[in-house]
Amino acid sequence: MKRLISGVQPTGGIHIGNYLGAIKNWVKLQEKYESFFFIADYHALTVKQDLETFPEKILNTAINIIACGINPDKSPLFVQSHILEHVNLGWIFNTITPIGELNRMTQYKDKSKQYSENINVGLFTYPTLMAADILIYNADVVPVGEDQFQHLELTRTIARKFNSVYKSGFFKEPEAIAAAGARIMSLTDPSKKMSKSGGVNGYIALTDSEEVIWQKVSKAVTDPNRQRKTDKGNPQKCNLFSLHQLFSSLEEIEYVDKGCRNAGIGCLECKKILADNINEEIAPIREKISYWQKPENKKKIIEILKQGADRVRPIAQENLKKIKQIVGLIEM
Ligand code: ADP
Ligand code: TRP
Repeated sequence: MKRLISGVQPTGGIHIGNYLGAIKNWVKLQEKYESFFFIADYHALTVKQDLETFPEKILNTAINIIACGINPDKSPLFVQSHILEHVNLGWIFNTITPIGELNRMTQYKDKSKQYSENINVGLFTYPTLMAADILIYNADVVPVGEDQFQHLELTRTIARKFNSVYKSGFFKEPEAIAAAGARIMSLTDPSKKMSKSGGVNGYIALTDSEEVIWQKVSKAVTDPNRQRKTDKGNPQKCNLFSLHQLFSSLEEIEYVDKGCRNAGIGCLECKKILADNINEEIAPIREKISYWQKPENKKKIIEILKQGADRVRPIAQENLKKIKQIVGLIEM
Protein backbone atom coordinates (compact mmCIF):
# COMPACT_ATOMS: atom_id res chain seq x y z
CA MET A 1 0.00 0.00 0.00
CA LYS A 2 1.33 3.43 -0.87
CA ARG A 3 1.75 5.94 1.95
CA LEU A 4 -0.06 9.27 2.21
CA ILE A 5 0.61 12.21 4.50
CA SER A 6 -1.06 15.57 4.95
CA GLY A 7 -1.34 18.30 7.52
CA VAL A 8 -3.34 21.38 8.36
CA GLN A 9 -2.43 24.36 10.47
CA PRO A 10 -4.35 24.92 13.71
CA THR A 11 -5.23 28.47 12.80
CA GLY A 12 -8.88 28.33 13.93
CA GLY A 13 -12.03 26.51 12.89
CA ILE A 14 -11.84 24.64 9.61
CA HIS A 15 -13.73 26.33 6.75
CA ILE A 16 -15.33 24.87 3.63
CA GLY A 17 -12.18 25.82 1.65
CA ASN A 18 -10.02 23.55 3.82
CA TYR A 19 -12.79 20.95 3.82
CA LEU A 20 -13.26 20.78 0.05
CA GLY A 21 -9.62 21.47 -0.79
CA ALA A 22 -8.17 18.96 1.61
CA ILE A 23 -10.01 17.13 4.37
CA LYS A 24 -13.01 15.78 2.45
CA ASN A 25 -10.50 14.25 0.07
CA TRP A 26 -8.47 12.79 2.97
CA VAL A 27 -11.56 10.93 4.12
CA LYS A 28 -11.88 9.14 0.78
CA LEU A 29 -8.16 8.59 0.34
CA GLN A 30 -7.67 6.98 3.76
CA GLU A 31 -9.36 3.87 2.31
CA LYS A 32 -6.86 3.60 -0.52
CA TYR A 33 -3.58 4.59 1.16
CA GLU A 34 -1.80 4.02 4.42
CA SER A 35 -2.52 7.51 5.73
CA PHE A 36 -0.98 9.78 8.36
CA PHE A 37 -2.54 13.14 9.26
CA PHE A 38 -1.15 15.82 11.50
CA ILE A 39 -1.69 19.27 12.91
CA ALA A 40 1.09 21.59 11.81
CA ASP A 41 1.51 23.53 15.05
CA TYR A 42 5.17 24.45 14.40
CA HIS A 43 4.17 25.92 11.05
CA ALA A 44 1.46 27.95 12.75
CA LEU A 45 4.09 29.57 14.99
CA THR A 46 5.46 31.41 11.96
CA VAL A 47 2.71 33.95 12.54
CA LYS A 48 1.98 35.39 15.96
CA GLN A 49 -0.53 33.26 17.86
CA ASP A 50 -2.72 34.30 20.75
CA LEU A 51 -1.35 32.27 23.66
CA GLU A 52 -4.76 32.13 25.35
CA THR A 53 -6.44 30.38 22.45
CA PHE A 54 -3.65 28.55 20.61
CA PRO A 55 -3.74 25.33 22.69
CA GLU A 56 -7.53 25.17 22.21
CA LYS A 57 -7.15 25.69 18.48
CA ILE A 58 -4.82 22.70 18.26
CA LEU A 59 -7.38 20.45 19.96
CA ASN A 60 -10.24 21.94 17.98
CA THR A 61 -8.46 21.26 14.72
CA ALA A 62 -8.14 17.61 15.75
CA ILE A 63 -11.86 17.59 16.60
CA ASN A 64 -12.75 19.10 13.24
CA ILE A 65 -10.66 16.53 11.38
CA ILE A 66 -12.24 13.60 13.23
CA ALA A 67 -15.73 15.07 12.81
CA CYS A 68 -15.14 15.24 9.04
CA GLY A 69 -14.67 11.47 9.00
CA ILE A 70 -11.00 10.73 9.55
CA ASN A 71 -10.84 7.48 11.47
CA PRO A 72 -7.91 7.77 13.89
CA ASP A 73 -7.94 4.01 14.61
CA LYS A 74 -7.07 3.43 11.00
CA SER A 75 -5.10 6.58 10.15
CA PRO A 76 -2.84 8.00 12.88
CA LEU A 77 -3.63 11.63 13.71
CA PHE A 78 -0.92 13.50 15.60
CA VAL A 79 0.59 16.86 16.45
CA GLN A 80 3.69 17.85 14.45
CA SER A 81 5.69 19.13 17.44
CA HIS A 82 5.27 15.75 19.17
CA ILE A 83 7.55 14.12 16.62
CA LEU A 84 10.89 15.84 17.08
CA GLU A 85 12.36 14.23 13.96
CA HIS A 86 10.45 16.61 11.66
CA VAL A 87 12.46 19.61 12.82
CA ASN A 88 15.70 17.64 12.88
CA LEU A 89 15.29 16.71 9.24
CA GLY A 90 14.08 20.24 8.45
CA TRP A 91 17.44 21.52 9.66
CA ILE A 92 19.35 19.14 7.43
CA PHE A 93 17.20 20.30 4.50
CA ASN A 94 18.00 23.94 5.36
CA THR A 95 21.62 23.13 4.68
CA ILE A 96 20.99 21.90 1.12
CA THR A 97 18.23 24.29 0.02
CA PRO A 98 19.39 27.35 -1.92
CA ILE A 99 18.04 30.67 -0.57
CA GLY A 100 16.91 31.46 -4.10
CA GLU A 101 14.43 28.56 -4.06
CA LEU A 102 12.80 29.85 -0.87
CA ASN A 103 12.75 33.42 -2.17
CA ARG A 104 10.52 32.32 -5.04
CA MET A 105 7.75 30.92 -2.81
CA THR A 106 4.52 32.84 -3.31
CA GLN A 107 3.20 31.98 0.15
CA TYR A 108 6.33 33.54 1.66
CA LYS A 109 5.92 36.65 -0.47
CA ASP A 110 2.22 36.95 0.39
CA LYS A 111 2.68 36.35 4.09
CA SER A 112 5.60 38.77 4.35
CA LYS A 113 3.31 41.42 2.94
CA GLN A 114 0.41 40.41 5.16
CA TYR A 115 2.53 40.22 8.33
CA SER A 116 5.11 42.88 7.45
CA GLU A 117 5.76 43.56 11.15
CA ASN A 118 6.88 39.95 11.70
CA ILE A 119 8.89 38.59 8.76
CA ASN A 120 10.70 35.87 10.66
CA VAL A 121 13.17 33.22 9.52
CA GLY A 122 10.54 30.52 10.21
CA LEU A 123 8.23 32.06 7.64
CA PHE A 124 11.08 31.84 5.16
CA THR A 125 12.11 28.25 5.93
CA TYR A 126 8.49 27.05 6.23
CA PRO A 127 8.85 24.91 3.06
CA THR A 128 11.95 23.01 4.28
CA LEU A 129 10.04 21.93 7.40
CA MET A 130 7.10 20.96 5.20
CA ALA A 131 9.47 18.88 3.02
CA ALA A 132 10.71 17.19 6.20
CA ASP A 133 7.11 16.48 7.35
CA ILE A 134 6.62 14.53 4.16
CA LEU A 135 10.01 12.93 3.51
CA ILE A 136 10.60 11.76 7.10
CA TYR A 137 7.85 9.16 6.40
CA ASN A 138 8.87 8.47 2.78
CA ALA A 139 5.33 9.41 1.75
CA ASP A 140 4.24 8.70 -1.82
CA VAL A 141 1.31 11.09 -2.05
CA VAL A 142 0.25 14.36 -0.42
CA PRO A 143 -3.33 15.65 -0.81
CA VAL A 144 -3.35 19.46 -0.52
CA GLY A 145 -5.16 22.45 -1.97
CA GLU A 146 -3.71 24.30 -4.96
CA ASP A 147 -2.06 26.94 -2.76
CA GLN A 148 0.36 24.26 -1.50
CA PHE A 149 1.42 22.84 -4.89
CA GLN A 150 4.50 25.05 -5.05
CA HIS A 151 5.66 23.74 -1.68
CA LEU A 152 5.16 20.18 -2.92
CA GLU A 153 7.24 20.93 -6.00
CA LEU A 154 9.99 22.27 -3.75
CA THR A 155 9.76 19.11 -1.63
CA ARG A 156 10.51 17.13 -4.79
CA THR A 157 13.43 19.43 -5.58
CA ILE A 158 14.82 18.95 -2.06
CA ALA A 159 14.47 15.16 -2.36
CA ARG A 160 16.43 15.24 -5.64
CA LYS A 161 19.04 17.56 -4.17
CA PHE A 162 19.59 15.28 -1.17
CA ASN A 163 19.88 12.29 -3.47
CA SER A 164 22.44 14.03 -5.66
CA VAL A 165 24.48 15.46 -2.78
CA TYR A 166 24.37 12.44 -0.47
CA LYS A 167 22.86 9.23 -1.71
CA SER A 168 21.41 8.45 -5.08
CA GLY A 169 17.83 7.13 -4.94
CA PHE A 170 17.40 7.63 -1.18
CA PHE A 171 14.27 9.78 -1.15
CA LYS A 172 11.40 9.20 -3.55
CA GLU A 173 9.65 12.23 -4.98
CA PRO A 174 6.16 12.54 -3.47
CA GLU A 175 3.23 13.56 -5.62
CA ALA A 176 0.52 16.12 -4.87
CA ILE A 177 -3.07 14.96 -5.13
CA ALA A 178 -5.56 17.69 -5.99
CA ALA A 179 -9.14 17.69 -4.75
CA ALA A 180 -12.25 18.63 -6.73
CA GLY A 181 -12.43 21.90 -4.78
CA ALA A 182 -8.73 22.66 -5.05
CA ARG A 183 -9.30 26.41 -4.87
CA ILE A 184 -12.37 27.84 -3.14
CA MET A 185 -12.67 31.60 -3.32
CA SER A 186 -13.70 34.08 -0.65
CA LEU A 187 -17.43 34.95 -0.42
CA THR A 188 -16.68 38.64 0.01
CA ASP A 189 -13.80 38.91 -2.49
CA PRO A 190 -13.90 36.20 -5.15
CA SER A 191 -10.45 37.26 -6.42
CA LYS A 192 -8.89 35.89 -3.22
CA LYS A 193 -8.85 32.33 -1.86
CA MET A 194 -11.22 31.58 0.99
CA SER A 195 -9.09 31.91 4.12
CA LYS A 196 -9.45 32.51 7.82
CA SER A 197 -7.39 35.65 7.50
CA GLY A 198 -9.80 37.31 5.07
CA GLY A 199 -12.55 38.18 7.63
CA VAL A 200 -15.42 36.01 8.95
CA ASN A 201 -17.90 36.84 6.21
CA GLY A 202 -15.50 35.54 3.56
CA TYR A 203 -15.65 31.95 4.75
CA ILE A 204 -18.11 29.40 6.07
CA ALA A 205 -16.78 27.50 9.06
CA LEU A 206 -17.83 23.91 9.64
CA THR A 207 -19.30 25.08 12.94
CA ASP A 208 -21.47 27.84 11.38
CA SER A 209 -25.18 27.40 12.18
CA GLU A 210 -27.87 27.31 9.51
CA GLU A 211 -28.66 30.98 10.22
CA VAL A 212 -25.04 32.06 9.97
CA ILE A 213 -24.57 30.13 6.71
CA TRP A 214 -27.60 31.91 5.28
CA GLN A 215 -26.36 35.32 6.46
CA LYS A 216 -23.00 34.79 4.81
CA VAL A 217 -24.32 33.30 1.57
CA SER A 218 -27.01 35.98 1.23
CA LYS A 219 -24.34 38.70 1.42
CA ALA A 220 -21.87 36.90 -0.88
CA VAL A 221 -20.60 38.61 -4.03
CA THR A 222 -22.17 37.27 -7.27
CA ASP A 223 -21.69 38.02 -10.99
CA PRO A 224 -21.06 41.80 -10.82
CA ASN A 225 -22.76 42.34 -14.20
CA ARG A 226 -26.06 41.02 -12.93
CA GLN A 227 -27.62 43.91 -11.02
CA ARG A 228 -31.33 43.09 -11.28
CA LYS A 229 -33.30 39.87 -11.44
CA THR A 230 -34.27 40.72 -15.03
CA ASP A 231 -30.58 40.92 -16.11
CA LYS A 232 -29.22 37.77 -17.68
CA GLY A 233 -26.31 36.42 -15.66
CA ASN A 234 -23.23 34.40 -16.49
CA PRO A 235 -22.82 31.49 -14.04
CA GLN A 236 -19.20 31.00 -15.12
CA LYS A 237 -18.43 34.44 -13.69
CA CYS A 238 -20.23 33.78 -10.42
CA ASN A 239 -18.30 32.45 -7.43
CA LEU A 240 -21.48 30.94 -6.01
CA PHE A 241 -22.03 28.82 -9.10
CA SER A 242 -18.69 27.14 -8.48
CA LEU A 243 -19.92 26.32 -4.97
CA HIS A 244 -23.17 24.92 -6.42
CA GLN A 245 -21.02 22.55 -8.44
CA LEU A 246 -19.55 21.20 -5.22
CA PHE A 247 -22.64 21.16 -2.99
CA SER A 248 -25.74 20.83 -5.20
CA SER A 249 -27.35 17.97 -7.12
CA LEU A 250 -27.00 17.75 -10.90
CA GLU A 251 -30.64 18.82 -11.36
CA GLU A 252 -30.18 21.85 -9.13
CA ILE A 253 -26.96 22.83 -10.90
CA GLU A 254 -28.76 22.69 -14.23
CA TYR A 255 -31.71 24.62 -12.80
CA VAL A 256 -29.62 27.52 -11.48
CA ASP A 257 -27.38 27.51 -14.55
CA LYS A 258 -30.32 27.88 -16.95
CA GLY A 259 -32.28 30.16 -14.62
CA CYS A 260 -29.34 32.53 -14.26
CA ARG A 261 -28.56 32.64 -17.99
CA ASN A 262 -32.13 33.45 -19.05
CA ALA A 263 -33.02 35.55 -16.00
CA GLY A 264 -35.55 32.92 -14.92
CA ILE A 265 -34.45 32.94 -11.30
CA GLY A 266 -32.94 35.66 -9.14
CA CYS A 267 -29.73 35.54 -7.11
CA LEU A 268 -31.77 35.24 -3.93
CA GLU A 269 -33.33 31.92 -4.96
CA CYS A 270 -30.00 30.64 -6.18
CA LYS A 271 -28.43 31.59 -2.84
CA LYS A 272 -31.24 29.92 -0.87
CA ILE A 273 -30.69 26.60 -2.67
CA LEU A 274 -26.94 26.86 -2.10
CA ALA A 275 -27.20 27.78 1.59
CA ASP A 276 -29.58 24.84 2.17
CA ASN A 277 -27.22 22.42 0.47
CA ILE A 278 -24.15 23.66 2.32
CA ASN A 279 -26.07 23.34 5.56
CA GLU A 280 -27.22 19.84 4.70
CA GLU A 281 -23.67 18.70 4.01
CA ILE A 282 -22.06 20.24 7.06
CA ALA A 283 -24.85 19.73 9.64
CA PRO A 284 -23.73 16.17 10.55
CA ILE A 285 -20.13 17.40 10.88
CA ARG A 286 -21.29 20.30 13.07
CA GLU A 287 -23.10 17.85 15.33
CA LYS A 288 -20.05 15.64 15.65
CA ILE A 289 -17.89 18.68 16.47
CA SER A 290 -20.20 19.65 19.32
CA TYR A 291 -20.17 16.06 20.59
CA TRP A 292 -16.36 15.99 20.74
CA GLN A 293 -16.20 19.40 22.34
CA LYS A 294 -17.93 18.17 25.51
CA PRO A 295 -15.25 18.07 28.24
CA GLU A 296 -15.58 14.30 28.80
CA ASN A 297 -15.03 13.59 25.09
CA LYS A 298 -12.28 16.16 24.65
CA LYS A 299 -10.10 14.08 26.96
CA LYS A 300 -10.35 11.25 24.46
CA ILE A 301 -9.00 13.55 21.75
CA ILE A 302 -5.79 14.03 23.74
CA GLU A 303 -5.49 10.24 24.01
CA ILE A 304 -6.06 9.86 20.26
CA LEU A 305 -3.31 12.39 19.48
CA LYS A 306 -0.88 10.67 21.86
CA GLN A 307 -1.55 7.28 20.34
CA GLY A 308 -1.22 8.71 16.84
CA ALA A 309 2.22 10.11 17.67
CA ASP A 310 3.29 6.83 19.26
CA ARG A 311 2.37 4.94 16.12
CA VAL A 312 4.33 7.11 13.66
CA ARG A 313 7.32 8.00 15.86
CA PRO A 314 9.26 4.75 15.27
CA ILE A 315 9.08 5.28 11.50
CA ALA A 316 10.42 8.84 11.82
CA GLN A 317 13.13 7.77 14.27
CA GLU A 318 14.37 4.95 12.10
CA ASN A 319 14.47 7.13 9.02
CA LEU A 320 16.27 9.99 10.76
CA LYS A 321 18.86 7.57 12.07
CA LYS A 322 19.64 6.46 8.51
CA ILE A 323 19.71 10.06 7.27
CA LYS A 324 22.09 11.18 10.02
CA GLN A 325 24.47 8.41 9.07
CA ILE A 326 24.24 9.34 5.41
CA VAL A 327 25.17 12.98 6.11
CA GLY A 328 28.13 11.92 8.25
CA LEU A 329 26.84 12.58 11.77
CA ILE A 330 27.94 10.22 14.53
CA GLU A 331 25.65 8.47 17.00
CA MET A 332 26.88 7.50 20.45
P1 ADP B 1 -5.94 28.79 5.62
O1 ADP B 1 -5.36 29.30 4.35
O2 ADP B 1 -7.39 29.04 5.74
O3 ADP B 1 -5.15 29.22 6.84
P2 ADP B 1 -4.51 26.26 5.77
O4 ADP B 1 -3.31 26.98 5.25
O5 ADP B 1 -4.45 25.74 7.15
O6 ADP B 1 -5.79 27.20 5.58
O7 ADP B 1 -4.84 25.08 4.77
C1 ADP B 1 -5.20 23.75 5.10
C2 ADP B 1 -5.50 22.95 3.86
O8 ADP B 1 -6.64 23.48 3.19
C3 ADP B 1 -4.38 22.95 2.80
O9 ADP B 1 -4.32 21.70 2.15
C4 ADP B 1 -4.82 24.00 1.84
O10 ADP B 1 -4.30 23.76 0.54
C5 ADP B 1 -6.34 23.84 1.86
N1 ADP B 1 -7.00 25.12 1.59
C6 ADP B 1 -6.92 26.26 2.32
N2 ADP B 1 -7.68 27.23 1.78
C7 ADP B 1 -8.26 26.69 0.68
C8 ADP B 1 -9.16 27.18 -0.31
N3 ADP B 1 -9.63 28.42 -0.27
N4 ADP B 1 -9.53 26.35 -1.29
C9 ADP B 1 -9.08 25.08 -1.35
N5 ADP B 1 -8.24 24.55 -0.46
C10 ADP B 1 -7.82 25.33 0.55
N1 TRP C 1 1.52 24.04 4.63
C1 TRP C 1 0.28 23.34 4.77
C2 TRP C 1 -0.86 24.36 4.80
O1 TRP C 1 -0.68 25.49 5.13
C3 TRP C 1 0.23 22.53 6.04
C4 TRP C 1 1.31 21.50 6.02
C5 TRP C 1 2.46 21.53 6.76
C6 TRP C 1 1.35 20.33 5.23
N2 TRP C 1 3.22 20.45 6.48
C7 TRP C 1 2.59 19.70 5.55
C8 TRP C 1 0.49 19.75 4.30
C9 TRP C 1 2.95 18.49 4.94
C10 TRP C 1 0.87 18.55 3.70
C11 TRP C 1 2.09 17.93 4.02
O2 TRP C 1 -1.95 23.99 4.50
